[in-house]
Amino acid sequence: MKAAEAKARHRDLCEQVRKHEHAYYVLSQPTISDHEYDRFYRELQDLEAEFPNLVTPESPTQRVGGEPISGFASVRHLVPMMSLDNTYSQGELRGFIKRASKLLPEEQLDWTVEPKVDGVALSLRYENGKFVMGATRGDGTQGDDVTTNLRTIRSIPLNLSPELKPIPQILEVRGEVFMTKDGFAKMNAEREAAGEPAFVNPRNSTAGSLKQLDPKLVATRPLSVIIYGIATLEQQKGKEPQTQLELLDYLRRAGFRTPEKVRHCHTEEELLTVVDDLGQITDTFAYEIDGAVIKLNALHLRERIGATSKAPRWAMAYKYAAEQAETQLKAITIQVGRTGALTPVAELEPVFVGSTTVSRATLHNEDELKRKDIRIGDTVVVEKAGEIIPAVVCVVTEKRSGEETTFKFPKQCPECQTPVTREDAGKGAGVVIRCSNPDCPAQIRGRLEHWCSRGAMDIEGGGEVLIQKLVEQGLARNVAELYKLKLEETAALERMAEKSAQNFLDGLESSKNRDMWRLVFGLGILHVGVGVGKTLGRHFPDLRHLMDATEEQLNAINEIGDVIAKSIASWFGDPENRKLIDELEKVGLNFSSSLYVTGAKTGQLTGKTFVLTGTLANMTRSEAASKIEALGGKVAGSVSKKTACVIAGAEAGSKLDKAQRLGIEILSEEELITLLAEAANQPASSESDS
Ligand code: IVH
Repeated sequence: MKAAEAKARHRDLCEQVRKHEHAYYVLSQPTISDHEYDRFYRELQDLEAEFPNLVTPESPTQRVGGEPISGFASVRHLVPMMSLDNTYSQGELRGFIKRASKLLPEEQLDWTVEPKVDGVALSLRYENGKFVMGATRGDGTQGDDVTTNLRTIRSIPLNLSPELKPIPQILEVRGEVFMTKDGFAKMNAEREAAGEPAFVNPRNSTAGSLKQLDPKLVATRPLSVIIYGIATLEQQKGKEPQTQLELLDYLRRAGFRTPEKVRHCHTEEELLTVVDDLGQITDTFAYEIDGAVIKLNALHLRERIGATSKAPRWAMAYKYAAEQAETQLKAITIQVGRTGALTPVAELEPVFVGSTTVSRATLHNEDELKRKDIRIGDTVVVEKAGEIIPAVVCVVTEKRSGEETTFKFPKQCPECQTPVTREDAGKGAGVVIRCSNPDCPAQIRGRLEHWCSRGAMDIEGGGEVLIQKLVEQGLARNVAELYKLKLEETAALERMAEKSAQNFLDGLESSKNRDMWRLVFGLGILHVGVGVGKTLGRHFPDLRHLMDATEEQLNAINEIGDVIAKSIASWFGDPENRKLIDELEKVGLNFSSSLYVTGAKTGQLTGKTFVLTGTLANMTRSEAASKIEALGGKVAGSVSKKTACVIAGAEAGSKLDKAQRLGIEILSEEELITLLAEAANQPASSESDS
C-alpha cells in the first residue's frame, strides 16, 4: 500500500472505530456486531504496525498507553469544581425553589431534573477537539491529573465528534465517572474467583481505580462516564447553549454520554412530582442513583443568582432516603478524638446496608445514647445515607428481652486513664466528655492524622496505621517530629516496607512547601476550618505575623468573630504551641501565604475597570472588589468596551462570552491573585514606599 492510500485508509478506520465505540459505549446502541468491530480494530492495528508514522495520541488504539506512572501530578482547575447543597427534605427543596424565585422576581423560572449519579466527580479538558487533560475534584481548587487512566474509558471521546461545528478551542466539561451495577458484580465475581479481595461498592472501587498507577489495570475496570456540565467553552463564534437542555444537547453532539431521563419542569408542584417519580425508578438504572439534581434551566439566570462560598444557588441535590437495616448492638466502645473528646461507638453484628457491610456506627455522645435509650444487646435500626458514616437511628424496643444493659460512660480516658472532664458544648449541643491530657496517645494520633490529611497538609502515606505505629513507638509526639523521622526508623516499624516509608518521607518533604492556610488548618486549632484558614491567609503575610496578632486584631477581620478570635489567640498564646511553631520553622516549613494581598492604597490599578463574573474559590466577589479598589482599580457590573479585564470564576456565563466577543483580557482567579500581589508590591504603590 502506498503512503497516501494508507493515510486515507487510516483516517477512515479511525473514524469507523470511533463511531462504533460511540454507538456502543455512549449511546448503548451498537450498530454492528462485536465481531465486525474487532475486524475494523485489528485492521487499524495492523495498518499502524506497518505505517507507525500514522499513529497519533488520538488513535483509538492508543487508549492504554505507556508504562505505569510513579504518581499523579496535582492540577489547578481553571474553574473551581464546586459541590451542591444536599437535602432529603421536600420542604427544603421547596425552600430552594422559592429562594431562587425571590432572587429573580421578574423571571418565569423553568427547571431540569437529572438523576444524581453516585460516582466520582471529574473534569475533562479538550483543546481544539482533542482530549488533553482529565482531573479529579480533589479539594475543588486542585485535583489529581488522571488523564492516562481516563483515556482508557471508552465513553470518553479522545476527539470531539466532527459533527460539532465549530470545534471549540477550549472545552472543559464536568461529569461523573462510575461503574455499572452489572460491571461491578461481574468484576467482583472474577476477583473472588481469582482469590482477590472483593470491592465494597461501585463508588469506592471507581475511586480506587482512578488512583491506580498502571493504566493497563484501569483499562480492565468497567468504568463509564456521564457528562452534565460545561465549565469553560471557548470558540470563535457559534451557537453556545443558553439553557441546561441545550447544553446537554451540545454535549451529546460533542460525543459525550449525558444523563438519562432528564425532565423539564415549569412549576414547583410539577418538579416535586418529577423528583418523586425518579425516586421510584432508581432501580431501573444500570448504575447507582442516589438522588436527583435540580437545576435552573436558563444559564444566564444562573449567573445572576450566583453561588454561596460552597455551592451554587441555581442547583440543588435532592437525595433519596437512605437504606436501613436491623441488627444487633453487641458492645459500645469509646473513641478518643484529637481534641480529647470521647465518642461512643456502636459495635454491631455486621449487616448489609446500602451496598456496604456495616459493623460500627457512631453514637455521637452520651446525650444521644440517653435520648435514644440505646442499650447493649439491643436490636437497632442502622442507616447508611450514601455518605461514609453509618448511624444508629433507633432501638426496636419490641425486640427487647430484658437482658439488655445500659452503658456507663467511663470516668477515665480509656487510652491514658486520665480522669475525664465534662463541658457544655454550647448552642444546645450537649455535654462533651473530654480527656484533658494533651499527651494522651489517642489525641497525639488524632493530631498527626489531621495534619497529614488531604484537606490539611495532604501528606501521602500518612494514614491511620502508620501514625498509630509511630506514636506507639514514641517516634513522633507532635507534628514537628514527623519531619525529623529517618528512613531506617520509619522502615523498621512493624511490616513497613521501605518503599512506603520512603513514600511517606517524600510526602513530608513536599509538604514543606504548602501554603500557610493549610498549615493553620493542620494545627487543629479549635474552630479553625479550611475557610477560616484561608481568611487568615489573606490577612497575614505569614505565620509569624498571625502568631503575634492580638485577639482584637483578629476580631477586626470581617469573617472572624469573638469565639474564633479568642480560640486562635489563646492557641498561639500557649508557650508549648509557640515552641512547636519554632520547631516547624527549624525543620524548614514554608510559613508564608500566597493568598496575602497587602493593603497598599494607591495606584497600580488606577484607571482600569474590572468586571467579576462567576464564583471565586478563595474570596467572595466583594472581597475581590475591595482588593481591586484598594489598588485604585474600579469594579463594574457589566462588560463594555471600557472594561480592561474580566475575572472569570466558576460557572462564568454571559459576561465571559461578551468579553470574549469584544476581545477583552480574561483572567482566572489565580491570575487575579498574582496580579493583585504584583500590583501591591510595585514600589510606586506599596506602603513601604515612603
Ligand atoms: S451538577 C456545581 N449534575 O453530585 C456542581 N452533579 O452532590 C454542579 N452529580 O458535585 C454539579 N450527578 O459530583 C450535577 N446530574 C448531575 C450529577 C451531579 C451526580 C454529583 C457531582 C456533584 C455532586 C453533588
